[in-house]
Amino acid sequence: MRKVIYPGTFDPVTYGHIDIVRRAIDLFDEVNVTIAVNPNKAVTLFTADERIFLLKESLKEFDNVYVDYFTGLTVDHAREVGAVGIIRGLRAVSDFEFEFQMALMNRKLAGDIATIFLMPHEKYTYLNSSLIRNLANLKSDVSDFVPPCVQEALAKKFK
Ligand code: COA
Repeated sequence: MRKVIYPGTFDPVTYGHIDIVRRAIDLFDEVNVTIAVNPNKAVTLFTADERIFLLKESLKEFDNVYVDYFTGLTVDHAREVGAVGIIRGLRAVSDFEFEFQMALMNRKLAGDIATIFLMPHEKYTYLNSSLIRNLANLKSDVSDFVPPCVQEALAKKFK
């Protein structure tokens, strides 16, 4: 049983994240999608409970994909749940520096937990959650980028 965690802020989850989960579950037996805390993103549009709900709803088609939340170190959580690695998505060269630093720091903290990078489909490479929040705030159609439950939740936030 090879389990991985896929940590992120997911504010909100997009089709780009879901694409990464699909690729991860093809490679591993279980994927824990984990809402983690990025201290630089202390203020989020959606509460932790809302993000958990939206992730669960968006990922319900997948077997062996679970959603959880933690506030500590990603590597500690990986150990707690018995994961062999941490999945991260790489969309463009601009992601590389931050991801590289984080992967090496995580390796320093826990040499037995690998970071595995997966690339989403190229149609999602320009996508991120901030862009979605901005588009929704301006009442633009986001249906190409997020599942219906997220569209509804965004519409409620910005009504
Ligand atoms: N499709 C679409 N968007 C994607 C994406 C994909 N496949 N992959 C990443 N993104 C976007 C996210 O939506 C997010 O967009 P935003 O900045 O506009 O909100 C951005 O890329 C990166 O976010 P995310 O992948 O959620 O990472 P993050 O930088 O918010 O999270 C943590 C980083 C939470 C994993 C990291 O801070 C962490 O591990 N924290 C726990 C504490 C810890 O262990 N610290 C030590 C780390 S060395």
